[in-house]
Amino acid sequence: FPLAFSQSSNDKFIQCLSQNSDSVFTQNNTQYSSILQSTIVNLRFSASTTSKPLAIITPLTYAHVQSVVTCSKNFGYRVRIRSGGHDYAGLSYSSHDQVPFVVLDLQKLRSINIDSSKKTAWVESGATIGELYYWVSQNNKNLGFPAGVCPTIGVGGHLSGGGLGILVRKYGLAADNVVDARIIDANGKILDRKAMGKDLFWSIRGGGGGSFGIVVAWKVKLISVPDKVSVFSLSKTLEQGGSDLFNKWQSIGSKLSKYLLIRVIILPGSTGGGSRTIKVIFNSMFLGTVDNLLKTMNNSFPELGLQAKDCSEISWIESILFFANYPDTSVLRDRKPEARKYFNAKSDYVKAPIPKERLQDIWNWMLEDDNPILIMEPHGGRMDEIGETSTPYPHRKGYLYNIQYFQTWENSDASDKHLGWMRRMYTNMTPYVSKNPRSTYVNYRDLDLGENKNANNISYSEAAMQWGSKYFGNNFRKLALVKGVVDPQNFFYFEQSIPPLKA
Ligand code: FDA
Repeated sequence: FPLAFSQSSNDKFIQCLSQNSDSVFTQNNTQYSSILQSTIVNLRFSASTTSKPLAIITPLTYAHVQSVVTCSKNFGYRVRIRSGGHDYAGLSYSSHDQVPFVVLDLQKLRSINIDSSKKTAWVESGATIGELYYWVSQNNKNLGFPAGVCPTIGVGGHLSGGGLGILVRKYGLAADNVVDARIIDANGKILDRKAMGKDLFWSIRGGGGGSFGIVVAWKVKLISVPDKVSVFSLSKTLEQGGSDLFNKWQSIGSKLSKYLLIRVIILPGSTGGGSRTIKVIFNSMFLGTVDNLLKTMNNSFPELGLQAKDCSEISWIESILFFANYPDTSVLRDRKPEARKYFNAKSDYVKAPIPKERLQDIWNWMLEDDNPILIMEPHGGRMDEIGETSTPYPHRKGYLYNIQYFQTWENSDASDKHLGWMRRMYTNMTPYVSKNPRSTYVNYRDLDLGENKNANNISYSEAAMQWGSKYFGNNFRKLALVKGVVDPQNFFYFEQSIPPLKA
């Protein structure tokens, strides 16, 4: 692995695939480019210099997915699996490896079957989480699902890496609510929970997408939501006491009632007098009425001064629109594409509040970039109750909050400048975040942490531990052992795939 690439083997490979479907788009096909671009949200990876797949396959059946695995394996080509295309490093549709690859794009495998009496749903990986939210609430407005904030994310990648959203404090991650799955493994076999065994089932619920096989469908547990939830978004500049309020939030955000999540979004703003300042936005949902929200806030966070006029009582599905800043629910159903931009992100976890006297340094560093955002998601609640080895996601009890450093820009010429700022910011934050290892969220994939260099000579090494332990802590070794059993030849290889470890 790999076989040498030649035009004739390429042609035979395409023939092998085409016996099963006409959903194969080679570089000569007029639809190739539009299908490739259709779910790329990060313009950094849509340049002419980004490596391109030999073909994109959009299967309609699981049998076709199986044939993509067997044909690719026989011809020595790699497969990149794409569901929603939101991977931060573009790894679901591009490759740094020299081996020819195809993109297996699951966008046409997106059925959602809901059993509201049992409070479960089977959802195919090519659905977006927005579609899942929409159809669940159409079926029963008192049911919901705890997953991420951005509705255009694909179910496939999101559940594979965890899935962190507004209901995390009450119900944990999306992956914590998976009860069965169907995966197509490196031998092209389709396996459900029973057939895949408990270790592989453990691995696919948070061990990151792309390493163990192609998860074509997930059975998820739906959760009950009240008729109305309460939301608010309150913005405070530094001049309005934003820094002190953030400081207070650090110590209480993970200790509030599980029914309440207050996340914090920090970004540059204006003082009104024309100068730049920092805005601290408290963005929140409470699973209950405004009256009860105000009582809870008065007890635990009176300094914020929340009033009834700041809050709205809306349905759970409307809260999805509130956080995503969407106009109406049809946008969820219709898979409105995400606005494309240049962006970059990194993440950290905080286990002890950042000292109040150091906060001004952070605000100053933020003001050195044009458009940075810090998004802080509190943990605690349900997250404290799930053991750190229960799933591959280890950042559980004792983690106060996750920080996502995110930045966007308009022009490719500015990329180096912004990427440089991000690396400095990450270095500057070292004293204030988790250590040994410095934890990171795998769904915010970051190749600066390190990458596999050679598919044929990859092992569970010190180098892999460098990035693997950041995502998975001590669970990285178990993931590598599972990989060693289910994919010892490393067919599902990419820049940060789990390396196989033989027991
Ligand atoms: P994509 O298709 O790019 O896949 C991501 C990875 O999973 C790739 O390695 C891919 O090969 C693999 N993969 C995809 N489908 C697979 C399948 N069926 N079987 C096996 N492997 C598969 N996260 C979060 O937790 N909370 C949030 O609120 C947000 N918000 C958010 C907003 C925006 C604008 C972006 C771009 C991203 C987020 N994320 C997020 C991160 C998101 O959860 C993460 O990027 C997911 O992996 C995206 O899943 P997709 O299927 O869209 O990606």
